[in-house]
Parts: sequence; C-alpha cells; structure tokens
Amino acid sequence: MIPKKVQQRFFIPAIIVGLALSALSTSTSGAALNGAALYEHYCAACHGNQGKGGVGVPLALPDFLAVANDDFLRKTIRLGRPGRVMPAFQQLSETEVDAIVAYIRGWAPAHTAIVETSPIKGKSERGEKLYASFCAACHGDRGEGSHGTGVTFSRPRDLPVLAPALNNPGFLAAASDVMIKTTLIRGRQGTPMLSFLKRGLNEQDIDDIVVYVRGFAQKPLPLPVKAGADEPPTIERMSPYGMQQTLDKLKNAIGGANLRLIRTESFDQAFAGKEKENKHHVVVDSCDFNFLNQALKIDPRVGLFLPCRFILSEHNGKVSISAVNPKRLSEIFNNSELNQLCDQMYKVYVDIIEETVF
Ligand code: HEC
Ligand code: HEC
Repeated sequence: MIPKKVQQRFFIPAIIVGLALSALSTSTSGAALNGAALYEHYCAACHGNQGKGGVGVPLALPDFLAVANDDFLRKTIRLGRPGRVMPAFQQLSETEVDAIVAYIRGWAPAHTAIVETSPIKGKSERGEKLYASFCAACHGDRGEGSHGTGVTFSRPRDLPVLAPALNNPGFLAAASDVMIKTTLIRGRQGTPMLSFLKRGLNEQDIDDIVVYVRGFAQKPLPLPVKAGADEPPTIERMSPYGMQQTLDKLKNAIGGANLRLIRTESFDQAFAGKEKENKHHVVVDSCDFNFLNQALKIDPRVGLFLPCRFILSEHNGKVSISAVNPKRLSEIFNNSELNQLCDQMYKVYVDIIEETVF
C-alpha cells in the first residue's frame, strides 16, 4: 500500500491530470456500442452537445455534413489534427468509430455527402496569389490556421468559430480535393467561412486555390515534438528548512517572480474544517495574471490547471515542495501553441522552487 502521506502529496496533481485526461481516456468498459454515448464521452467536451461547437468547431452544421463524407469523419477521428488540439483517437475500435460517425451523420440525415475523390487540376502559382488575398487573413499565411481554439469568451463575438489549419497533415489526409472545393463553393452558413462563388471567385479560381492548398502536403511544417511524454508529473525538491521557514521562503520567491499570492491553506482544510487543520500539508496558490490571460486565449482548458499551485509536505521532519509539471500539460493538450507557454511556466516554477530550497 502507498503510505498515506505520499498519497496525499499526489492527490491534487492526480485529480487535475485525471480531469484533463478523461476526455482522452481509453475505457468504455464494455458499454454497448451507442454512438450517442461514445460521442458524449469522447467528443462532447470540445464539440458541444449535439455538435453545437465549443473548443472544437461545430459538427452539426448542415453545410459541413453535406461535404464531409464518412471517410473524412473516420480519418479525422483516427488521425486527429496533430498540434491543433483535436486529438487522434487511435484507441477506439473500428466499430466504435463507426458508431460515432453514424451518430454525427444522424444530425443531417438528408444529406448525401461527397464521394468523388479524383484530384482537381489547376495552377498552384495562381492559387497562391488568390489564397494570399482571400484566405490567409483567417487561415494563416501558410495555412497554419487561426490562433487559439473554438468558441470561447476570448473570441470577438463576430468571429465565434476559428479557422482550422489547412496545412495540417490530419486535415490533408482526410479531406479530398472535391471536399475542399465544395467547401469553398458552398461556404458554411453559421460560421465566418463564406461561399467564395458569392464573393466573386469563379470555379477556375477555386480549383487553383484547391491545388495550392493540396500543395501544403509537400511542405509540411515541422511537427511539434511530442512534448512532455517523458516528463515526471510533478516537479519536486526536498527543502533543507522546516515547514514555516520553507513557507516564508516560498512566499518570497513567488513575489520575486512577480506572481501574485492568492492564498495559503492547510491541505485538508476544505475537508476537515479549520479546527482540524493539518499543518503538515500546506497549499500555496499564486497567479501571474498576464500569463493566465495569454494562456486562456490560446486554450481555455488551461483554466483547469490554474492557479499555480505549490504543495509543501512534511514527513518525518523533512519538508518537500512540489508542483504539477507544466511540461506534462503539453502532452495532454496537443496544442503546439501552448508548448512554448508550458516551457515558460516550467522555468518559472523551477526557479521559484529552487529559490525556496536554496
Ligand atoms: C473570415 C474568415 C475566413 C476566410 C476569409 C476563409 N475561411 Fe475557411 N474557414 C473559416 C472558418 C471559421 C472555418 C471553420 C468552419 C466550421 O466551423 O466548419 C473554415 C473552414 C474551412 C475549410 C474546412 C476545413 C476543415 O477542417 O474541414 C476549408 C477547406 C477552408 N475553410 C478553406 C478556405 C480557403 C481556401 C479560403 C480562401 C478562399 C478560406 N477558407 C477563407 C474561416 C475563413
Ligand atoms: C480536446 C478537444 C477536442 C476533442 C476531445 C475532440 N475534438 Fe474534434 N476538433 C477539435 C478542434 C479544436 C478542431 C479544429 C481543428 C483545427 O483548429 O485545426 C476539431 C476538428 C474536428 C473535425 C473536423 C471538422 C471540420 O470542420 O472539418 C471533426 C470531424 C472532429 N473534430 C470530430 C471529432 C470527434 C468525432 C471527436 C470525438 C471522437 C472529437 N472531434 C474530439 C477539438 C476536439
């Protein structure tokens, strides 16, 4: 059995990481193959109930389901969009994927999606120029997609859905030329993605753009290194000082790093009530509000991991200090924009902890 003290020390990180991982977890524990339940378990947290959208783009849009065939949905689920929040669901069985696809298809059953897959012909150099004037503002100069994720409070109201990455290997492997072309012709009503026929492009223009977009596959962006996988879940150091002195030094170090101290409380105060406070476990919460805003704009799920929390534990007269390892979050979030921030946050945590035990 794991000693109680050790259990407690890992309690909070474990809950937090567990929360974030639940959307990516593997088990459906033999549940009947119910597409709705599978969708609820694996997708709804991001794409919203009934596919209404959230962190992820809306999936119930008639204009989307009219162009997205089952093969596109299957491949997107399997491959995800590496580095773009949308996870790759390799752990699902074929029948589970089919059940989810059938459930999504049920939102617009009248549509027969495109099956045509032959490549479209056009002039890439012409497409490049048209792309720069008509697409780059939303989808990025090199098709890298807009920043951040989906519908959140940090979006301007008139732009509730963010533009996906078009140079993403997951997208390019899943979408046929005809699907991309039809998306440009129809647009997606209810999103900022308009019909470009209505905006004055002709079919040849659109073909040239499709060929240019397809060409992104030839110059793939370097994939983000699978960050964090080898990192321990927590950063931990032993303190040479007693509990009170370690706590004082930690508070100083937090101030020195320009973080705001939010609160200090005994670990199980919330459970035990003030009179039974356990002074051997102290939680110190702090926050860097600039950093917080920056991170939330990129990915609202970061909120799950905040405030920045340090845990002091005393065991047999020895005090240790620990914090959730932000580098480990990179792995959970699959969002390359966040990796840099996680690294930055890691350095701040390590500096504060080193300073405390120095
Ligand atoms: C005003 C912003 C805006 C402009 C301009 C724009 N798009 Fe989009 N585009 C979006 C948004 C937002 C979506 C996601 C719509 C959704 O929720 O399905 C999208 C979706 C797409 C998709 C589907 C991607 C996927 O993952 O299925 C393709 C392909 C696409 N756009 C290509 C283009 C091209 C090519 C151009 C230029 C001709 C263009 N877009 C111009 C905002 C824009
Ligand atoms: C952690 C959040 C998250 C989860 C969980 C998630 N998605 Fe996504 N999904 C996204 C985001 C964000 C995008 C847009 C990709 C981009 O920005 O480039 C996306 C894109 C997609 C697309 C492409 C949409 C389009 O317009 O082409 C499909 C299809 C999709 N997801 C289906 C699913 C399904 C089915 C599940 C569950 C098995 C799922 N997703 C789980 C975040 C998520």
